[in-house]
Amino acid sequence: EKGGYPHFMLKEIFEQPDCIHDCMRGRINVDADNVVLSAVIDNKDRLLNAKRFIIVACGTSWHAGLIGKQLIESFCRIPVEVEYASEFRYRDPVINEQDVVIAISQSGETADTLAAVELAKSRGAFIYGICNAIGSSIPRATHTGSYIHVGPEIGVASTKAFTGQVTVLAMLALTLAKEKGTIDEQYYLSVVRELNQIPEKMKEVLKLNDKLAELSKTFTYAHNFIYLGRGYSYPVALEGALKLKEISYIHAEGYPAAEMKHGPIALIDAEMPVVVIATQNALYEKVLSNIQEIKARKGRVIAFVTKGDTVISQIADCSIELPETIECLNPLITTVPLQLLAYHIAVCKGMDVDQPRNLAKSVTVE
Ligand code: F6R
Repeated sequence: EKGGYPHFMLKEIFEQPDCIHDCMRGRINVDADNVVLSAVIDNKDRLLNAKRFIIVACGTSWHAGLIGKQLIESFCRIPVEVEYASEFRYRDPVINEQDVVIAISQSGETADTLAAVELAKSRGAFIYGICNAIGSSIPRATHTGSYIHVGPEIGVASTKAFTGQVTVLAMLALTLAKEKGTIDEQYYLSVVRELNQIPEKMKEVLKLNDKLAELSKTFTYAHNFIYLGRGYSYPVALEGALKLKEISYIHAEGYPAAEMKHGPIALIDAEMPVVVIATQNALYEKVLSNIQEIKARKGRVIAFVTKGDTVISQIADCSIELPETIECLNPLITTVPLQLLAYHIAVCKGMDVDQPRNLAKSVTVE
């Protein structure tokens, strides 16, 4: 059942190229160079007339929501808020018929997310679900939605569901932006073509597995980790840190890299591993100077860089090269090695990665 893999988590990490392919099947037409998410087209007027979108989710799905916010705001020019479902539902939020709520949930059974959906629905908002488990409670409570179609996820730590959620959010933003006329035609084409390349690029990333397994052995001593990223890589930093804490029980925090100097940099010393997502993008130079600040305090930097990088790879203690992709799709590439890093560190520490202590796959109680 684990298909020859020692754990479901590793199997599910390795399935990602196929899962993303399945997720895009029938939705991306490469010959015609376009993306069509039918739920967006069917509810076009309701979505286009929305004053704002509110994304509600928990945990890893909430991290996908943070990426969704950046995609929808940049492509569609619609304001997007991202809320923890558990906070939203008890806050008496300002919400009405002009709002669209996107509920993201792998299991479709998370109690807080379901309650947030019911609350928003009772106030007249239009609810769009992004779920994996077919026929689960959240999709049944929504007005419309898109399944991520990545197949059952068994490992408690969510992996392929995250990349599936980000893929659906990218397709949603592209479909809506095209309808709204807010996206440059050339840019649209380049994102569609690049989405189509993601499964192949993920396969390239998975070839780093042995290297990451080797690297992981040197980190079992650590009691703390910091993960840094900016822009589209900031939610990836949060997700990398969550993966590490939940399966290896090492305390880890993700921060937007520039926030370091507002407090967390006080934690840096020679014992502190700092994972930095430092791929080529508009903020590359800024991330470079964030890394220099950490090195000046003797932090141990593990940098994830774009293939061919010659600058950050000189300064970092260790650098891992990843295939180049378009900035807005970078999370689909950079998340994968962070999943592997967390997995191997946990395995080196002898932890039960598929069944971490204190955690359940679906959180059906609040
Ligand atoms: C982390 C993880 C959890 C879930 C969260 C939401 O690896 O699995 O943080 O992401 O419990 O679950 P769903 O997506 O099923 O609503």
